Amino acid sequence: MTKRAPLPYAIPTRARPAEAPKAFDSLGAYPRIRMRRNRADAWNRALVAEHRLSASDLIWPVFLQEEDGCFPIPSMPGVDRLGLGPLVDAVGEARALGIPAVALFPATQIERKTEDGDEALNPDNLVCQAVRAVKKAFPDIGVMCDVALDPYTSHGHDGLVRDGVIVNDETVAVLCRQAVLQAEAGCDIISPSDMMDGRVGAIRDALDRAGFAQVRIMSYAAKYASAFYGPFRDAIGAVSNSPGNKRDKRTYQMDPANADEALREVALDLAEGADMVMVKPGLPYLDVVSRVKDAFGVPTFAYMVSGEYAMIKGAALNGWLDGEAAMMEALLGFKRAGADGVLTYFAVDAAKVLKRD
Ligand code: PBG
Repeated sequence: MTKRAPLPYAIPTRARPAEAPKAFDSLGAYPRIRMRRNRADAWNRALVAEHRLSASDLIWPVFLQEEDGCFPIPSMPGVDRLGLGPLVDAVGEARALGIPAVALFPATQIERKTEDGDEALNPDNLVCQAVRAVKKAFPDIGVMCDVALDPYTSHGHDGLVRDGVIVNDETVAVLCRQAVLQAEAGCDIISPSDMMDGRVGAIRDALDRAGFAQVRIMSYAAKYASAFYGPFRDAIGAVSNSPGNKRDKRTYQMDPANADEALREVALDLAEGADMVMVKPGLPYLDVVSRVKDAFGVPTFAYMVSGEYAMIKGAALNGWLDGEAAMMEALLGFKRAGADGVLTYFAVDAAKVLKRD
C-alpha cells in the first residue's frame, strides 16, 4: 500500500463545542472557519492558488511525415503528421507562444521498415532531417528525440527480436548508435523510450565518447505497458491498423499494477546519468509522478499520451465535455502532482489559452 505522510494538522472530528454561537449551527464543529471565503472572488482565488501552469511547462510532441503537407491522424482529431515545411512553421508558432521544447516522432514509410529497424541508423532519416531543419530555423528551441526502434521495425517492437524474444543488450548497442546520430543532427535531449535495461548508462557513455557531453538525457524511466498508446501507434504506423499497432510490450514496459518498481527504475536511470526523468502515461499514473518527485526531487516530467488526448478531444467533439476546460484542468493536475513539465499534444492549444487569459 502507498505510504502517505501524515497531515500536518488534525482533521476536525470532535463534536461542536457547547459555547459556539447558535447562529452557526449548520457549520458544525468549527463555526469560525469558512473555507469558502478564499474562493469568493477571482482576485482571492488567484492569490491563494498553489499551482500554476505556464507555457514554459509544456513540451510539444509532433509527428513527422516524409511527404510535404499536413496529414490528419484519425484517432487524434486536431493532430496532423507534418512534412518538413509545415513542421518548421508549426515549431515557430509554438516557440512564439513560449513553449520551450518539441519532441519529434517520425512516421516511417512502410517500405523502409525492416526486421531490425535499419532506418534508425540512417543519418538522413526523417527525424534527423527534421532536427536539422528545426535547429537551423530556431537554434534556441529545445529539440527532443525518442531513442527506440519501434518507428523503424516491421514488427513494431522497440527492440531487436531474436527467436521471438526482444533482446536487451544487442538492442542497447543499436540504441547508442541511434542516439549519437540524433545528437549529430542537433538533437538537444535524447529520450530513451525503449525500456531496455542499462540503456541510459550506455547511451551516456556513447554520447560522451562522441563529444556530446552537453546533450541531455530525459529517460522514459517509468513507462508502463499501456492501452493509452493506441492512437500513437496509429500515428507512426504508415498504415492505420497495421499489425504493429497492438504489439504486446509487457516483457519490457512496466506492469500498471506497480509503483514501487517505478521508484527503482527511476533510481537506476538517475544512477546511470539521466538528467531528467519521465513517467508515462500521465493521468492514470499521477500517484507515480507524485512519489517520484517526492522521493528524488529531480526534474520530473509526465507524458500525457495519445490516448489521453483522444479521450478529452473525442468527448469534446461529441459535445460531452467542455474540451478547453478539461484540457486546462488535466494539465494543472500534473503540476499539482509534482511534475515540472508535461509532454502533451495539447501544448499549443493550452499555450494559446494561457496567453489569452
Ligand atoms: C515508442 C513510444 C511510444 C510512445 C512514445 N514513444 C509508444 C509505445 O511505446 O508503444 C507513446 C506516446 C503516446 O501514446 O502518445 N517507444
